[in-house]
Amino acid sequence: MTAEINFEDFKPRVDAIEEAFQQKWERFRYFVLEPDRPEFAEGLNSFGPEGISLLEKAKSALTQAKEFQTEMLGRKSRLSALRKEIRNVAAADRGVAGQAMTRLELQMSQPLEIVETHLNHFIGTILTRQEALDVTLPGWRPRRGHLHPITLVRERIEDIFVSLGYAIEDGREIETDFYNFTALNIPDNHPARASQDTFYTSDGFALRSQTSTVQIHAMQRRGAPLRMIAPGRVFRRDTPDPTHNPMFFQVEGLCVDRGITMAHLKGTVAEFLRRMFGAQTVTRFRPSYFPFTEPSAEFDFSCFKCGGSGCRICKNSGWIELGGSGMVHPNVLRGAGVDPEEFSGFAFGLGIDRMVALMYGLDDIRLLFENDVRFLRQFD
Ligand code: DAH
Repeated sequence: MTAEINFEDFKPRVDAIEEAFQQKWERFRYFVLEPDRPEFAEGLNSFGPEGISLLEKAKSALTQAKEFQTEMLGRKSRLSALRKEIRNVAAADRGVAGQAMTRLELQMSQPLEIVETHLNHFIGTILTRQEALDVTLPGWRPRRGHLHPITLVRERIEDIFVSLGYAIEDGREIETDFYNFTALNIPDNHPARASQDTFYTSDGFALRSQTSTVQIHAMQRRGAPLRMIAPGRVFRRDTPDPTHNPMFFQVEGLCVDRGITMAHLKGTVAEFLRRMFGAQTVTRFRPSYFPFTEPSAEFDFSCFKCGGSGCRICKNSGWIELGGSGMVHPNVLRGAGVDPEEFSGFAFGLGIDRMVALMYGLDDIRLLFENDVRFLRQFD
């Protein structure tokens, strides 16, 4: 039979556990307070270095609180060891000893449970706040791109001519001398051939200086009769200024058939301009000269802004100059394999960028090529 111990001997061992508890408890005591009290957050400071978030500190405090609980109340704790010794306490003292143990146990377990509940609550609140999604906030609308103003106008021109029975031809931007000049009846000594006006590649090709080149390709490929337009880039050695850019856009038109006359040219251009600028638009032709047409004419249309009375856009003349045109020169037809005895045709060419600048009232054509979204966005 083991020696009996009385309560006097037992009590100091209970007190020792309590003392150990009190020492470590110090750090956790703030968390008995409601989590929204400022002291609660302050108490977290000892649970991690400065700079880590309150959430991290609270998680660390919770882990440590659980470890503390295991240490003080778990199966291997001093408390549980002492509990086994109660049977060695003298029968008369056993009741008091048991009460002291129960009191100690509650004294430790109750506050630790509150601490854990509060820490969990605190962590939950932070997480909820972090993940909160305000569904009433306006959304981010992804910005969609849109077509460039030159493309918008080019497509309008294409629609009009397609509805008049024209095909759309795609030319090439790098050309031989033959297509850029010779086939267009531009004599060898013509100033346009000089490198001051035309860009040449190092192996002698020309960057086309006009879309008229496509007339030749189209006639060679399709033969006559034919109706086509060819929009595209052209290049000239110009110094950029508000009305010039070394790269710009033209649209070429060509109609070849039996019995085509100047009347067809005038009717077609006038109809195109009416559809483009309104039914009231008046067209005017002025005699001119181009090597690839005979006779040749430049055409103007009545100002879409003032209707002809004179304004800033038409520089008070009431007219806007738009392009060149004429009856295709027999040499051009012949050079492209079309018999001028059987067929005749008209052609015209105009600058798309110039038309865009007019329509949108741009005072500098270079805006169209600088790709500044602050400018381009206006055409959405
Ligand atoms: N190619 C001329 C230019 O670049 C424009 C032009 C004039 C085109 C008369 C034509 C035409 O088709 O018949 O200035």
